Amino acid sequence: MGERRGLMLSLEGQDGCGKSSTVEKIARVLREAGWEVVVTREPGGTSLAESLRQTVLTMPMDGLTEALLMFAARRDHVQQVIRPAMARGAAVVCDRFTDSTFAYQGGGRGFSWDTLSQLEAWVQEGLQPDVTYWFDVGAKEAARRRASARAADRFEAEDEQFFLRVMAGYERRAEEARGRFVRLDASKTMDEVWVELESSLRAELAKR
Ligand code: TYD
Repeated sequence: MGERRGLMLSLEGQDGCGKSSTVEKIARVLREAGWEVVVTREPGGTSLAESLRQTVLTMPMDGLTEALLMFAARRDHVQQVIRPAMARGAAVVCDRFTDSTFAYQGGGRGFSWDTLSQLEAWVQEGLQPDVTYWFDVGAKEAARRRASARAADRFEAEDEQFFLRVMAGYERRAEEARGRFVRLDASKTMDEVWVELESSLRAELAKR
């Protein structure tokens, strides 16, 4: 992969976990510490990937098509945004990355874990986040939060069983990549979750 500079942080968790509201707070801490910050999201982050996002979140399709579109969007995002940012030493804060594909397409849809691993290797060529903040919220609490949110997309409209499988997908993925996962108890209040996240982030920055 060549010389690695920069820093890549990803945020993960099921719909309703509250992760997106911390993105700007993370960016602020990084900027105050002197980093150039690139805030982005998946699926999305480039105009091609944002248009694939629109398609994948709204049109019915089978599990393989869904996984291929997620990875097609990711490839464009990695090439156009993430790698160039890392190469110039920036910090990338990505709202969802490949762990979502394992959790949703792998766990939720039951699509082959091995095939996903192969696609991951082709698309990312070794690129992984340095740290992944996993907002782990119970299925019941997440369902309650989803119910009070705005109009549901194709994933948010899924039932409780689907989200239990998504949770199991995250568990498996976290076990496979213990080194970069920081599990946050996202059933706590957002302020409490932020205190935990911030101290972990500051510890990470102190290493650099
Ligand atoms: P999200 O960023 O949570 O959208 P929003 O918060 O605006 O609703 O993600 C959109 C959905 O896409 C979410 O339900 C999870 C799903 N998703 C996958 O199924 N696979 C993936 O690889 C990614 C990145 C997201």
